[in-house]
Amino acid sequence: MRILHVVGARPNFMKAAPVVRALAKHQGIRQTLVHTGQHYDFNMSEVFFQELGLPAPDINLEVGSGSHAQQTSQIIGRFEAVVTERRPDLVVVYGDVNSTVAAALVCAKLLVPVAHVEAGLRSFDRTMPEEVNRLLTDQISDLLFTPSEDGNQNLAAEGIASEKVHLVGNVMIDTLVRLLPKANEQIPQSLPERYALLTLHRPSNVDDLEWLKSLLQLLDDISRELPVLFPVHPRTKLRIEEAGIWPAHADSHFQFLQPAPYLEFLGLQSRAAVVITDSGGIQEETTFMGVPCLTVRENTERPITVTMGTNILVGRDVDRLKTELARILTGQSKRGRVPPLWDGQAADRIAQIITGALGNLVFYPKG
Ligand code: UD1
Repeated sequence: MRILHVVGARPNFMKAAPVVRALAKHQGIRQTLVHTGQHYDFNMSEVFFQELGLPAPDINLEVGSGSHAQQTSQIIGRFEAVVTERRPDLVVVYGDVNSTVAAALVCAKLLVPVAHVEAGLRSFDRTMPEEVNRLLTDQISDLLFTPSEDGNQNLAAEGIASEKVHLVGNVMIDTLVRLLPKANEQIPQSLPERYALLTLHRPSNVDDLEWLKSLLQLLDDISRELPVLFPVHPRTKLRIEEAGIWPAHADSHFQFLQPAPYLEFLGLQSRAAVVITDSGGIQEETTFMGVPCLTVRENTERPITVTMGTNILVGRDVDRLKTELARILTGQSKRGRVPPLWDGQAADRIAQIITGALGNLVFYPKG
């Protein structure tokens, strides 16, 4: 049985790693790993392979950066040749990045079965490129693995046959459970006693320079009392440089850092007084670790982190951010719970289903 995994961008790597490991425990499976090259800097890609113990990709499509259409179409063109040559029995795609939808589309056209890991999440905001990727990928997938019950409800509402959908839990948490002890061993002595950890990369935050400026200004103000550590995504760095915004009070403790490798970032999260972010995965990781999280977005495709976890959506509202931050710092943070099946075993459940299901998957009609 030939299984081909497709990864491309940073958040894919921690999701694919446990699935590759879980499938490796089963007899008779040959796995191929394809990297689209959507992310290519050492600290956005290779370092994750090393830390997660992912095998080096068998094939790298080296598509690099570009507009959405350019990037997606390059992946489609190059990946089609790989699928045609390798004829896998199943292709596994992860999350909601451009690589995910591009690979799924190639497979749908070549009638090669697709499994989508992290299916069913919806922000109901189609201005987010990821929401379009999620909707389309789920429509053309044959096996859909959801991290939480809301995913199953969303897929049912979109008319996706329930036989294809499996609630398995959260594979990113599998990786966290495995590597948190190692991450904690590596925490640098030099960390401040108490700090906020910040990440920003969504176009809705970083492409609107006025908004980005006011947000960074506020965080610079805050950093005079609470140090702010900010590993800067390349996209965000570019915007900050373009706009010449570099807030700096003489007494600020706003530290701009390189994008952090997985273990370092996990360690930073686990010790943070609060995490301020617009990432998807970080909302989940903080919920699992019980660390307060303020999400600078109007919506989330991961509502369980709000209803059950430690996450609070503050929107694009500087005052709300200030208020919620003050509450957390005075000990009034929300107590969260870990959602069901976020237990470190999600990938094993996926491997069981894949190995059992491949013989009798129903491919046509899709729908
Ligand atoms: C992509 C995903 C997003 C995910 C994020 C995680 C899509 C639509 N978006 O966004 O869902 O949350 O990855 O990081 O797939 N760049 C580099 N080096 C790299 C990669 C990117 O410098 O290794 C710079 C380039 O200037 C590039 C920009 O970052 O144009 C954006 O990269 P891209 O992959 O298009 O989107 P992300 O913002 O990273």
